[in-house]
Amino acid sequence: MHIPADTSIVILTGAGISAESGISTFRDADGLWMNHAIEEVAHPTAFRRDPALVHEFYNQRRRQLFEVSPNAAHLALARLEQAWPGDFLLVTQNVDDLHDRAGSLKLIHMHGELRRVRCLKCLQSHPWMEDCLPETPCPACGKPSLRPHIVWFDEMPMKMGEITRALSRCGLFICIGTSGNVYPAAGFVQQASRQAHTLEINAEETRIRSQFKETRKGLASCEVPRLVDELLGGMTR
Ligand code: APR
Repeated sequence: MHIPADTSIVILTGAGISAESGISTFRDADGLWMNHAIEEVAHPTAFRRDPALVHEFYNQRRRQLFEVSPNAAHLALARLEQAWPGDFLLVTQNVDDLHDRAGSLKLIHMHGELRRVRCLKCLQSHPWMEDCLPETPCPACGKPSLRPHIVWFDEMPMKMGEITRALSRCGLFICIGTSGNVYPAAGFVQQASRQAHTLEINAEETRIRSQFKETRKGLASCEVPRLVDELLGGMTR
């Protein structure tokens, strides 16, 4: 793939990029949601109704972060960010810390992060790697009013203004490992395709497949490093 070195790149990742690191996706056969109705855990009313259940759901997923590592796909995206001379933005729907640990810096967690909590009273957010309970006091104000720093259904994803601006200016939009079930992320390809080349990498065919100018079917750990090699090898100054 030959694209000019001053091309602005936006990349969107979903649960599929972390699957080979051992983190369950949401909608694959053994997915996370198979054990919980989404309404039970990923909704503000669920948290008001049963904060202990919701905290435990995220505590389990936060504990898993200590057992998993970034895979070749995460590492390849960090390598691309480092070497790419044009603008670069990685937007992830994932709340795990694998992109961070792979070295990605120009990174937006649009659905929040497992390794942060935030206080409903003083609104401060804090780095957090241990379990959090309804009675856990906020490190800033001391009140027992911490919630997972996760964007739940019916809540607004984070940094949408910055993401929308990047999509309107990019020349290449790459979508990796997302099923295209959840908006606004599933609509990013339409926003970008007005001016950008759009490319999807997924292990399966997705419902938004036809909206991409190019699709590559395969595992992220194989296809992403290959794409990064092509981009860096084919970079035209
Ligand atoms: N390589 C590439 N793609 C893969 C791999 C892999 N190894 N394994 C799975 N996939 C693909 C699946 O084919 C599927 O299209 O990853 C996608 C995972 O889809 P979902 O489980 O729906 O996850 P995602 O698209 O990230 O969900 C979006 O939904 O529930 C909300 O907030 C949650 O961020 C999440 C959002």
